[in-house]
Amino acid sequence: MKPIRVGLLGLGTVGGGTVNVLARNREEIARRAGRAIEVVQASARDLGKARICDTTGIELTTDPFAVVDNPAVEVVVELIGGTDLARELVERAVAAGKHVVTANKALIAHHGNTIFEAAHRAGVTVAFEAAVAGGIPIIKAIREGLAGNRIEWLAGIINGTSNFILTEMRSAGRAFDDVLAEAQRLGYAEADPTFDVEGIDAAHKLTILAAIAFGVPLAFDRAYTEGISRIAPEDVGYAEQLGYRIKHLGIARRRDEGIELRVHPALVPASAILANVDGVMNAVMVRGDAIGPTLFYGAGAGAEPTASAVVADLVDVVRALTTDPENRVPHLAFQPDAISDAPILPVAQARTAYYLRMTALDRPGVLADIATVLGRAGISIEAVVQKEPPQGAEFAQLVMLTHRVLERQMDEAIAAVEALSSIRGSVTRIRVEHLEGA
Ligand code: HSE
Repeated sequence: MKPIRVGLLGLGTVGGGTVNVLARNREEIARRAGRAIEVVQASARDLGKARICDTTGIELTTDPFAVVDNPAVEVVVELIGGTDLARELVERAVAAGKHVVTANKALIAHHGNTIFEAAHRAGVTVAFEAAVAGGIPIIKAIREGLAGNRIEWLAGIINGTSNFILTEMRSAGRAFDDVLAEAQRLGYAEADPTFDVEGIDAAHKLTILAAIAFGVPLAFDRAYTEGISRIAPEDVGYAEQLGYRIKHLGIARRRDEGIELRVHPALVPASAILANVDGVMNAVMVRGDAIGPTLFYGAGAGAEPTASAVVADLVDVVRALTTDPENRVPHLAFQPDAISDAPILPVAQARTAYYLRMTALDRPGVLADIATVLGRAGISIEAVVQKEPPQGAEFAQLVMLTHRVLERQMDEAIAAVEALSSIRGSVTRIRVEHLEGA
C-alpha cells in the first residue's frame, strides 16, 4: 500500500524529533499502521536554521498554509504552538477533510470544544496525545484503557519545567532563575516560560485531562491556576524537615457538587510516589472506581518523548482511515451528545490541608492567639514548629500544618491571623495533598 503523506507544521524541537522517530522506526511503524508514514512537506519560520533532523526528501516552505492546502498532504501535524495561527491552520485542515495531529495544549484547552465539533461534522480526527505529559500515553489510557471506570480523581505532575526547578531547588539548593535558564536551554520550557512557572501550561493540560476523565466540556477559564514562582527556598527546606516535598500538581476531582479543577504547588508526603517524581519527568495518578489508583510515569517534555506521542497518534489516524467516523473513539472520550454539564467548582470550595508559615513576635501567648483564631474558624492544627530566632531577634518563624478545611474558611482565618498585632507581614500558605494510594 502507498505510504500515507504527512505535512508537518513546525520543525523545532518536537517537529525535528518527529522526523527523526519516523525515519528511524519507519519499518516498525509501518508494520503497526499497515502503511508507511512519510513526511512529504514541512513548514518552518526560518529555513536556514540548524535542525536536529535530516530533512532530505521533505519539501520545505516558510508558508504553513501551503502545507495545509497541498493536495498531496493527507494528514496535517501541527507543532507550531500558540493559539491564533495554529487555530486557523487546524480549522482549515479540518474543513478540507484532513485529519490533524497536534501537540498544542493551549489550542485544545482554549478552542478544543469548537475544533472537535467541526472535526466531528467533517468526519475527521484531531488527535492530541502529545498535548499532555509529553510521551506518556495518558490520553489513550484514560479515554480507552480506563473506559470501564467512573473516574474519581486524577492528580499529576504535568509541567516538566516546574518539576525540574523544584527538584533542583530541593536537591541542589540551586536558584530558581538559574534552573529555569537550564530548562530553556534543554528545550523543555515553553516559548514564554511564564506559562511554565505560573502554572498556565499545567492548567492547559489539566483542563484536557478533566474533560476526558469526566466527560465535561473543556473549561480552561474555570481552572484555578497558581505556579511555583513564589515558592521560597525556606519553604522547600521546612517542607523537607516536616517529611514532605513541594510538588507542582494539577488536580481534578469529582465531587457531588461539581468538579474541582486546580493547579498549584502542594506539599506531598515524602514517601508518596508523586513526591519522588523528579527532574523533567511527569507522572499522572488516576483513580477509577473499578481499578483503584493507577500511575502513569515518563518524560513530559523533550524532542523524542513528545514525538513518541505524535507518532502514536499518526499510527492511530492511519489505522482509523477506513473506519466509519461514528465508530471512532470520541475526541473527549464520551459521545458528543453525552457530555455532562457538571459545574466546575470555584477554588473557595476546594477542601485541602495547609502548610502555613508566618513571622510572629517571640513572646508568650502569641501561639495561643493564633490557635484561637484558627480554632474559631474550625481549623484544626496538626503540627507546629517554631524556628529558633537568631540571638536577640524579636520575631520567630512559625510553621504549621493543619487538617483539611474548606478553602474559603482558610482565607478568612488567614486574614484574621494577619490582623493580629503579633504577626508581621503576610502568612505564606501552601496546600497539602494526601492522595489516597499515592
Ligand atoms: N513546557 C512544557 C513542560 C513542555 O515543561 O512540561 C511540555 O508540554
